[in-house]
Amino acid sequence: MVSYQEHTTNTQLIDWIKEIEELCQPEQVYLCDGSQAEYDRLCQEMVDQGTFIKLNEELRPGSFLCRSDPRDVARVEDRTFICSEKEEDAGVTNNWMEPTIMRNTLADLFKGCMKGRTMYVIPFSMGPLGSDIAQIGVQISDSPYVVVNMRIMARIGQKVLDILGDKPFIKCLHSVGSPLEEGQADVSWPCNVENRYIVHYPESREVASFGSGYGGNALLGKKCVALRIASVMARDEGWLAEHMLILGVESPDGEKTYIAGAFPSACGKTNLAMVIPPKGFEGWKVWTVGDDIAWIKPGADGRMYAINPEAGYFGVAPGTSYDSNPSAMDTITKNTIFTNVALTDEGDIWWEGMTKEAPAHLIDWKGNDWTPASGVPAAHPNARFTAPASQCPSVDPDWENPKGVPIEAFIFGGRLSTTFPLVYQSRDWEHGVYMAATLGSEATAAADNQAAIRRDPMAMLPFCGYNMGDYWAHWLSMENKVEQLPQIFRVNWFRKSADGKWLWPGFGQNMRVLQWVVNRIKGRVSADETPFGEVPKYEDINWNGLAYDEDTFSELMAIDTENSIREFEDQVNFFNKIGDSLPEEMENQRQTMLSLLTPKKESSAA
Ligand code: GTP
Ligand code: SPV
Ligand code: MN
Repeated sequence: MVSYQEHTTNTQLIDWIKEIEELCQPEQVYLCDGSQAEYDRLCQEMVDQGTFIKLNEELRPGSFLCRSDPRDVARVEDRTFICSEKEEDAGVTNNWMEPTIMRNTLADLFKGCMKGRTMYVIPFSMGPLGSDIAQIGVQISDSPYVVVNMRIMARIGQKVLDILGDKPFIKCLHSVGSPLEEGQADVSWPCNVENRYIVHYPESREVASFGSGYGGNALLGKKCVALRIASVMARDEGWLAEHMLILGVESPDGEKTYIAGAFPSACGKTNLAMVIPPKGFEGWKVWTVGDDIAWIKPGADGRMYAINPEAGYFGVAPGTSYDSNPSAMDTITKNTIFTNVALTDEGDIWWEGMTKEAPAHLIDWKGNDWTPASGVPAAHPNARFTAPASQCPSVDPDWENPKGVPIEAFIFGGRLSTTFPLVYQSRDWEHGVYMAATLGSEATAAADNQAAIRRDPMAMLPFCGYNMGDYWAHWLSMENKVEQLPQIFRVNWFRKSADGKWLWPGFGQNMRVLQWVVNRIKGRVSADETPFGEVPKYEDINWNGLAYDEDTFSELMAIDTENSIREFEDQVNFFNKIGDSLPEEMENQRQTMLSLLTPKKESSAA
C-alpha cells in the first residue's frame, strides 16, 4: 500500500484513492507532482509504448504527435449524462439517469478496469493557484496521455495539494476502460467504444468518465468541471460559468475594453480570442485572456469580472494557419501535443488549411501513407493541439489575475449562412438574454432553404449542467445582481450570398466589428433601430484598409422579412421542448420580434 502522508493530510482524498484502487485494481498507484521531470518521463514512456511520436526537435522542439483510435476522436454527447437527483433538474436538453442506477452501472464497469495499468492521481486547480475564484479537483485516470494534457490545460500537482489542505475537492474518476490481462500487449490508444459514459452528479459535484481518452471526454477539468459542474455552482452562488473566450481590445490611446464571446464548438472562439488587428488598425491590439471557458462573477464595484479557469488551449488544428490565426501558430511552435494531425517526412506536423499547398507526402492521422491524390483528409477534422497559454504572443498581462478582468460586453455568434446580420445589439438585458438563448448554428453549410438550425443557447447546449429553462432564468436574474451589466451583441461571420460566397471576409477583419462594439459601449456612436435590434450605420464602421462597399454591406446586414418570420416561428418548437421551466420573458420577446416583423394589420389612416 502506497503512503501519501508526506504529500497530503487530506483524509477524504486518501480514503478515496484507496477506495478507487480497490475498485479498479491497477498494477500501481502514482500521485502526480506536476513537475517537468515527471512530464518528460511520461512523454518518453509514451514514445516507447508507441502512443507518442517525438517531433523533429529543431522544427518543433519539445513536441509530440499522438494518434487516437479512429473511433475515439471527439466528445460523445449522446453518452454524456447529468445525473441529478430529479430528472427535471437535468432538463430536456441533457441525458439523465437515476443517480443510484448510474452508480451501480458504473461500479460494474470500473471494477477491475485498470488491471495492468498505472492509476494516476492528478490534483488540479481550475483557475489561478490559490485564487478564491479557483476550484480544486482531483482526477484519477489510467491514461498517461490525460496526465500530460492536464499539465498543460490546468495547474496540477503538489502545489495544488498544498493549497487544498484538508478541504473538500471535486472527485473526477476516469478510465479508458481497457484492462490488460496477464501478458496482454497494450495498444497505442486504449479505449472502450462499446461502453462509454461521461457522467456528472451535480449535487455531490462528482464526475465519472469511462471508455474514452479524447479531449473533453477525458480531460475532466475542462468541460466536465469548468462548465457542467461549475454551471451548477454558478447557479447556486449567483455567477456564470460560460463557453466563452475572453479578450481585451486596446486602442492606440491605451483604453482597454474586455469582451467575452460565446460561439458553439468549432465556430471561431480561438480565432477571435487571438485576432490580430488588420491593416488600417495601426496602434490597436487585441489581448487574449482565454479561448474556451469563462467564469464570470459580480464584483464589489458593480461590474462583472471574468477569469479563464484554464492554463492552456485545446484548439482545433485544421484551418489554423499564418493567414487565419498567426498567434495560434506562434503558440504551437514548441512544447505542444498534437492529436490526430498528419506527420511530414521531416518529422513536423501538417493539416488541411495550414498551407495553401499540401506537402507531396505525409503520414495521415490514421498512420497511412498520404498524398494529395489520396482523396481523404490528412488530419482528422477535430484534430487538436494542446499548448500552454503562456506561449501565446497576445496573452494578456492580466490573464492569470485572480481578480479577473472587467467585462463590458457579451457577444454571441453561430454559423448562420442566411437571415442573421453581421452584428446587432440588444435593446436591453432581457432582449439580449433572449438573443443568446435562441442562438443557432448550422451543422453543415450544405443546407438549402430548409434552414436546419441546431439551437445552441449561449453555445452551452452540450455543457449546461442543469435545466436549460432554469439556466435562462438565471441569466435573466443577473439584471438584479449586477449594477453595470455588460451590453449584449449577436454577430455572424458566416453569412453567404445567394451564390454561396462568404459575404464577410472574417478572421482579422472581425476587428472592425469589435471596434464598433467598443464604440457602442462607450456611447461614441449611434445605431439604427431594426426589428432584430440596433445595427451599425455603414459610416460608423472603420473601413480603413479594406475595400468593402456599401451595397455589399447592405446585403450583409439585410433583414429578410420572410426568412426572419420563419426563424422566429421556428423558435417556438425549441421553447415548447423546454417546457414548464421556460421563463415567460423568452416567449414575450419572441412575440415582440414577430410583431416588429409583421406589417400592422389595421393601417392607421393618419
Ligand atoms: P472549440 O474549441 O471546439 O470550442 O471551438 P472554437 O470556437 O475555439 O473554434 P475555432 O476557433 O477553432 O474554430 C475554427 C473554425 O471556425 C474553422 O473552421 C475556421 O475556419 C472558422 N472560423 C473562425 N473564424 C472565422 C471567421 O471569421 N470567418 C469564417 N468564415 N470562419 C471562421
Ligand atoms: C469543444 O468541443 O467545445 C471543445 C473541445 O472545446 S473538447 O475539449 O474536446 O470538448
Ligand atoms: Mn469548446
